[in-house]
Amino acid sequence: GLPARVTIHEVGPRDGLQNEKTTVPTGVKAEFVHRLAAAGLTTVEATSFVHPSWVPQLADAEELYPLLGDLPGVRLPVLVPNEKGLERATALGARSIAVFGSATETFARRNLNRTVDESLAMFEPVIGRAKADGIRVRGYLSMCFGDPWEGPVPLARVVRVARRLHELGCDELSLGDTIGTATPGHVRALLDRLDEEGVPVSVLAVHFHDTYGQALANTLAALERGITTVDASAGGLGGCPYARSATGNLATEDLVWMLQGLGIETGVDLGLLAATSSWMAEKLGRPSPSRTVRALSPK
Ligand code: HMG
Ligand code: MG
Repeated sequence: GLPARVTIHEVGPRDGLQNEKTTVPTGVKAEFVHRLAAAGLTTVEATSFVHPSWVPQLADAEELYPLLGDLPGVRLPVLVPNEKGLERATALGARSIAVFGSATETFARRNLNRTVDESLAMFEPVIGRAKADGIRVRGYLSMCFGDPWEGPVPLARVVRVARRLHELGCDELSLGDTIGTATPGHVRALLDRLDEEGVPVSVLAVHFHDTYGQALANTLAALERGITTVDASAGGLGGCPYARSATGNLATEDLVWMLQGLGIETGVDLGLLAATSSWMAEKLGRPSPSRTVRALSPK
């Protein structure tokens, strides 16, 4: 059966904006986060403490994070690749972080300048220190389905890195379809294999990009397998600068529309959310790619 409630992990301010060519002013980013929280999203991934030249759009993390303030009941996770990133984030009081690994060697190299195992070694002290300080840790796992350089990714490779991230102490693992090539049968096969290999579905989340229009179908397949945390990006913004052919994430509005229809609770006010994405689309100078945002926009 389907869950009664789904937690949406909103990634718009991070995954959504990281690929935007024109710099979004820090104040606009802060307002974006505040509007998303006001629309009822309880997890809003705010920014990344990565090397500023690797993701210039998020180079203002130090300026942005303090503007977010304390939003009661709202988690504001930030991406942290290494100890340097953890120090920057915790100096500002971050209580929720995400490391980000890869199932494939090519993407690990391009995104983190490391092999898969070197990146796991880089995360180990980050996760250890964060957990010791009571900080919540999410582990992303990219290229769980297809990789633009390596093609289809064997399930066994995904399982190996997922188990390792779980053993290292991640509270949650987000399975990334970075380039959006997954289809529902592949999602079922991966979730079944992870279950057989002892990675509990209760720690898993799914992270779909909508390149081939499969993100909602994939989400439904995941919900049927017991997933209750789903990543999405307001307005369908997004893409990874280090993954060729990655387009926007599953749009949060499209997700909420489907979940509402299924009678699944999210706590999100769809009108406020769609208005936020329309406002952001104006700031970015082009219409939102989300079908639901377009359908709900005043004509
Ligand atoms: P590197 O060049 O190997 O770094 O990059 P290094 O460890 O050799 O250090 C080189 C210099 O960078 C040093 O400075 C460090 O201090 C500095 P120097 O001594 O030369 O003056 N440095 C830093 N500065 C600020 N903040 C830091 C930091 N770390 C080192 N955190 C590194 C390695 C990991 C830093 C780099 O590869 C990087 O920043 N990568 C980030 C890439 C990224 O953010 N990609 C997008 C997010 S992943 C994604 O979108 C996928 C996801 O959505 C899921 C999905 O869809 O699949 C999550
Ligand atoms: Mg992503």
